[in-house]
Amino acid sequence: CLIDAEKSTLVSLCGKVAGHADVTGAEALERLFLSFPQTKTYFSHFNLSHGSPDLLRHGGKVVNALINAAGHLDDLSGALSALSDLHAFQLRVDPGNFRLLSHSIQVTLAAHFTSEFTPVAQSAWDKFLAAVSEILVSKYR
Ligand code: HEM
Repeated sequence: CLIDAEKSTLVSLCGKVAGHADVTGAEALERLFLSFPQTKTYFSHFNLSHGSPDLLRHGGKVVNALINAAGHLDDLSGALSALSDLHAFQLRVDPGNFRLLSHSIQVTLAAHFTSEFTPVAQSAWDKFLAAVSEILVSKYR
């Protein structure tokens, strides 16, 4: 779980990302698909070319879901309940892919928010994304 210093850096960076949710999310997805091409199989219905409306729209959804979750650190499971159902029961995303997306998100944040993405911030995001991922895969069987 996150210590206070990590919580405040997480929430503060979320505030900066909020105005750029779609481009940030789209870049994280582009990095995911280029570095780990097997992840593209879940998105065969998307146009995955650089800057496509599909990438921007979906990237925005993912990042806004994370920003919302960061506002509910005391009840992450509740905040992510519907998304957890979706990923487990409908999408059936292989749990291993969550680590790959978490990595791509962190690299994207590091590239664009260089002064904010301190070692403490990285530790905060790493723990936060691991906690979110654990909840999104928790209903698998
Ligand atoms: C859909 C968030 C991880 C594959 C979604 C949606 C959100 C979301 C907000 C849209 C739900 C809706 O429209 O109601 C997240 C978060 C993740 C995560 C926060 C982890 C940090 C993953 C991973 C994969 C994945 C690792 C696969 C590599 C999908 C797919 C959809 C989806 C295929 C449906 C896309 C569509 O057809 O529109 N996710 N997701 N997600 N997610 Fe995730």
